[in-house]
Amino acid sequence: MTNTYYKNKTVLITGGAQGIGLGMAQAFAREGANVVITDADKEAGNEAVERLQKEKLKVEFIPCDISQEHEVVALLAKVGEKYKQLDVLVNNAGIADPFMGDLEEMLMSEFDRILAVNLRGPVLCTKYALPLLRKATHPAILNISSTRAFMSEPNTFAYSASKGGLQALTHSLAISLAEDRIRVNAIAPGWIETGEWQKKSDKYKPQHTKEDKEQHPVGRVGTPEDIAEAALFLCSDKAGFITGQSITIDGGITVKMIYV
Ligand SMILES: NC(=O)c1ccc[n+]([C@@H]2O[C@H](COP(=O)([O-])OP(=O)(O)OC[C@H]3O[C@@H](n4cnc5c(N)ncnc54)[C@H](O)[C@@H]3O)[C@@H](O)[C@H]2O)c1
Repeated sequence: MTNTYYKNKTVLITGGAQGIGLGMAQAFAREGANVVITDADKEAGNEAVERLQKEKLKVEFIPCDISQEHEVVALLAKVGEKYKQLDVLVNNAGIADPFMGDLEEMLMSEFDRILAVNLRGPVLCTKYALPLLRKATHPAILNISSTRAFMSEPNTFAYSASKGGLQALTHSLAISLAEDRIRVNAIAPGWIETGEWQKKSDKYKPQHTKEDKEQHPVGRVGTPEDIAEAALFLCSDKAGFITGQSITIDGGITVKMIYV
């Protein structure tokens, strides 16, 4: 992207301390936005701010577990106190590991936890961000879903269900918030490599096999930058006629027909 659209706009990114969220935080901040990163991992949040402030970007970290209503209320109160309005909310935080045991072994508490973070969390953040979003001129919400909302590997029940719910939530919110002129869209990422975007203690150098890359029609695995570029577009006035939609960003893997 790069124009002046985001200059001095306020962008709140949940789960922005690492991975795709951090990639988006960097991208919005490089466009001139005030970026508030929120995350349950304080160590990662502080490191993320340190990393981005080296570029003199306008970022701050406010810790919050998005599954806890009182923490979300406190988060939005702090954002409101400092910035008065919110231009963009990115519901990105999630328990990103999709795998669990088989259905008979699965603990329902584990299922509930994933739904509480990946689906209920975005509902809570949106609910309490609304008064601040309404004060913005062109408010936008972006939900980070997954291609696993549409297709599955075995034993990914909670994750897939949470992301399917997030897809449905996206069109439901788009219609419900239309009277406030708040646009709501989603990105469904495929395989995005986040090794270089983790906190120092979890960082790793990604190594992808030829098969990893070549199973993707574009010949590679995705990056946080791939998602960030689309996020900048979807939340800007250039996407002013787009709401209730989801863009799949997966290097083409979900449209590939496989006959063995
Ligand atoms: N990486 C991929 O291949 C991929 C693919 C599809 C979808 N996604 C989705 O993209 C989003 C980001 O994934 P990622 O790969 O960057 O993961 P990540 O684990 O690198 O980052 C997720 C961040 O969310 C935070 N978080 C987790 N639970 C939280 C909570 N309760 N409250 C606040 N913060 C919390 C984590 O601390 C972490 O910093 C997730 O919603 C994930 O499901 C990722």
